[in-house]
Amino acid sequence: MDDTLLLIPGPTNLSKRVRDAMARPQLPHVGAEFYSTFKETVALARYVFKNEAGVQFVFTGSGTIGMESSVVSLVSRGDRTLTLINGYFGHRMLMLNEVHGAKADKLEFKGGSAADPDALRRQLRKSKYSTVFITHVDTSSSILNPVAELVEECEKAGAMSVVDSVCAVGGVPLDFDRLGADVVFTASQKALAGPPGAVLLAVSTRALEHMENRKSPIEGYYMNLLRWKPIMDDPKMYLATPATQVLLALRESLLEAKEEGIENRWERHRKLGEITRAKVAEWGQEFVAEEGHRADTVTSFWVEDGKAGQIQKNLESEHHVMVSRGIYDDKDRMIRIGHFGILQPDVLGKALGHMGDVMEETGASARPVAVAKRRNTR
Ligand SMILES: Cc1ncc(COP(=O)(O)O)c(C=O)c1O
Repeated sequence: MDDTLLLIPGPTNLSKRVRDAMARPQLPHVGAEFYSTFKETVALARYVFKNEAGVQFVFTGSGTIGMESSVVSLVSRGDRTLTLINGYFGHRMLMLNEVHGAKADKLEFKGGSAADPDALRRQLRKSKYSTVFITHVDTSSSILNPVAELVEECEKAGAMSVVDSVCAVGGVPLDFDRLGADVVFTASQKALAGPPGAVLLAVSTRALEHMENRKSPIEGYYMNLLRWKPIMDDPKMYLATPATQVLLALRESLLEAKEEGIENRWERHRKLGEITRAKVAEWGQEFVAEEGHRADTVTSFWVEDGKAGQIQKNLESEHHVMVSRGIYDDKDRMIRIGHFGILQPDVLGKALGHMGDVMEETGASARPVAVAKRRNTR
């Protein structure tokens, strides 16, 4: 396991520097060192989101906490919300809206299609929504949605927008200040190449004012972003014990991102996406996501039903490379390759070379797969 290369869509491979940060003696969450480390981490998070104008949050939790704290903090019971769906995580976002009492509508894009800004515009004309939920890259389908256009439609219709960028921040161009979304969040274990366990959110001042002026109080404690705000300003305050090892490691991974330069990191990810797509095309497999909307962080493709498990198993046992299968219904007929974080193009190229051999061995290679019924992944 030690030398297994992770090409799963998170968690990702960690640099030695990041791993060393986690292996330090326990750092207390009270004391000058943690306070300064935390402040530095928040500042670095601002850098990767390009968030100078909004409020930056970093706290312990996984990406799902980013999803749920956005819903809980922004949406009041009975609010009408809209969730754009083209994969599993869109469905989850819809469910969270329902769980927390929103009148939750959905706009679903099937068969590998990206969310269409024109369809969103039409829907926003039909109904008035308080908030629209958008997935930047849905990790289950690897569809990259056109967030800038989608957020612009929300803006025009006077709706707030929340972008789940868990599978994008650090690997896909994002400029929070220019985008104009109200919340964009990610988690530590994907393109930022930290360990799992931290959630990072950029929040607009407009969204914060909305939280402060809600008629009904926020129905949550840990999920209440207003409770976290003072801690971001002054980490000496206590809300809940932070996972200090995770935060120390996250600081290192964010420093690595800064040292590389965020634009250079996006460019490296663009290459990683290109290399992967070229290989999948060479193998003759059918992409899950439509052309022009394939993410640079994860690539999904269909294989013959029943072959996915064999491909995954052989690749790991023969070459120490781990890829993922599809989620739920798609687990036997979809392969997902995560290509983000600290991954270098030459390492990816070599691993995909091995994968080509495995595809051939398992009889999955060099023939387009007829997917009997292409359902949307959920
Ligand atoms: C797009 C997206 N959103 C949300 C999540 C949930 O994150 P977590 O598993 O860290 O809770 C994931 C996880 O893979 C994801 O890919």
